[in-house]
Amino acid sequence: MQIKDNVFVITGGGRGLGRAMAESLAAQGAKLALIDLNQDDLDVAAGACAEQGGEARGYICNITEEAAVEATFAQIKQDFGKINGLVNNAGLMRDGMLIKVKEGELLAKMSLDQFNSVVNVNMTGTFLCGREAAAIMAQQGEGGVIVNVSSVSRAGNMGQTNYSATKAAVATMVVSWGKELARHGIRTGGIAPGVIATEMTAQMKPEAIDRMVAAVPLKRLGQVEEMAHTLRYIIENDFFTGRIIEMDGGLRI
Ligand SMILES: NC(=O)c1ccc[n+]([C@@H]2O[C@H](COP(=O)([O-])OP(=O)(O)OC[C@H]3O[C@@H](n4cnc5c(N)ncnc54)[C@H](O)[C@@H]3O)[C@@H](O)[C@H]2O)c1
Repeated sequence: MQIKDNVFVITGGGRGLGRAMAESLAAQGAKLALIDLNQDDLDVAAGACAEQGGEARGYICNITEEAAVEATFAQIKQDFGKINGLVNNAGLMRDGMLIKVKEGELLAKMSLDQFNSVVNVNMTGTFLCGREAAAIMAQQGEGGVIVNVSSVSRAGNMGQTNYSATKAAVATMVVSWGKELARHGIRTGGIAPGVIATEMTAQMKPEAIDRMVAAVPLKRLGQVEEMAHTLRYIIENDFFTGRIIEMDGGLRI
């Protein structure tokens, strides 16, 4: 699929990797519908896309709410006339150990709220947005592409019972949807990043960064442009579907 003049929805497009991927597609002449929770972030991100030469609009929408997601995708279709691609990028991390025990005494358990909040955004939100985008694309009859952002943590990571489970789940949706939606000309892909340098990592202590980098065979963090490059590859390669690209510098956890 060509990027120029096509319409891409990016969830969590207000900041971080979502915004970086949006700017990259805008630079190629794409039209962007950015979904996020914060209006200021959306305004800045849409402005950055416009500076890159792409038309962009922001949409406030909590992707865990079915009615809001349905209304937002209908609005995007109305505003732009079509939807060609979706990047399910919005994500939440609320790390913690399953249980904390000291000297035989139970100190804490991961709460159901801590578990469910991550499931709701990362897994249910991806399902809802993927479903709405697929429904619109199938009715348009011009195909499309859906990309889910997973993580190296999908293999199962210490302190990430909730997050790892959701990132494995969205990776399987790439495979299921790849099989189901091919008949409509809709392709799917997943990106499983390792640690990418963002505003969040910039705020971490240098020792913590050093520890993370030590485990990466390439001995550095990924760059947001490398993430955007992988997205562009999935969009543009018409024989790619139902698979996950590991973008992690060789890191295994
Ligand atoms: N940064 C990394 O190193 C890294 C590594 C692996 C995977 N990822 C994944 O990449 C994606 C983006 O990560 P990031 O580092 O840019 O994170 P981030 O926290 O900077 O951005 C996530 C965005 O999603 C939005 N969001 C959260 N909940 C939402 C909801 N209910 N409805 C709508 N929007 C919501 C947030 O407001 C935010 O703008 C996430 O799925 C994350 O799990 C990131």
